[in-house]
Amino acid sequence: MLKLGVLASGRGSNFQSIIDSVGSGYLPAEVAVLITDNPDAYAIERARKRSIPHLVMKPGDYRSGENYFAELAGELKDRGVELVILAGFMRVVKRPLIEEFPMRIMNIHPAILPAFPGLHGQRQAVDYGVKVSGCTVHFVDEGVDTGPIIVQAVVPVYHDDTEETLSERILKEEHRIFPFAVKLFAEGRLRVEGRRVIVDNAHERNNSVIINPPLDTGV
Ligand code: GRF
Repeated sequence: MLKLGVLASGRGSNFQSIIDSVGSGYLPAEVAVLITDNPDAYAIERARKRSIPHLVMKPGDYRSGENYFAELAGELKDRGVELVILAGFMRVVKRPLIEEFPMRIMNIHPAILPAFPGLHGQRQAVDYGVKVSGCTVHFVDEGVDTGPIIVQAVVPVYHDDTEETLSERILKEEHRIFPFAVKLFAEGRLRVEGRRVIVDNAHERNNSVIINPPLDTGV
């Protein structure tokens, strides 16, 4: 069974979607550990409820960012973690962790990358005036939200959307595509070729398209 290590900084709803997908049998994996940089993260509560081991590691307690991520990598390795999940982990991952888990770290970002990387992807989308946005699961490299893209989901952006309403719409899709991406990994269906991630046996050609606002239908 694929062993997951989850890093989260906050409420952990994406962590919950992973827990639930494991629980239902959809995701052939087990969560070996939750590590958080925030002792007040609600994610800890979610881990407790399911008796998932958890650890608080605060960057301030380490002599440098590099050192922090080296120690973090050590903790994950010691627990036999094979895939690292960034579920709302609010830090840019540094080299020691990436070197330990090359193309073995996944992040979810609330925008259609490469648009609107960094903080507040949903607010950036509303402010820019785009008509569609969404979320992206990608492998993590040393940049900010720059690694190879695994799955994306697109949602419409309405003229009266706020950061909050758009975030809510996007979050629903996050909870669908993150477990899906992890499942693809667990099933050995992901191949990274340069910047591209090839998904074996994907049902890609289903002709789905979102046009927003929708075409007038003559009514
Ligand atoms: C999500 O919007 C995710 O896309 C971003 O941080 C947020 C985390 O939310 N990376 P949660 O803690 O999983 O509820």
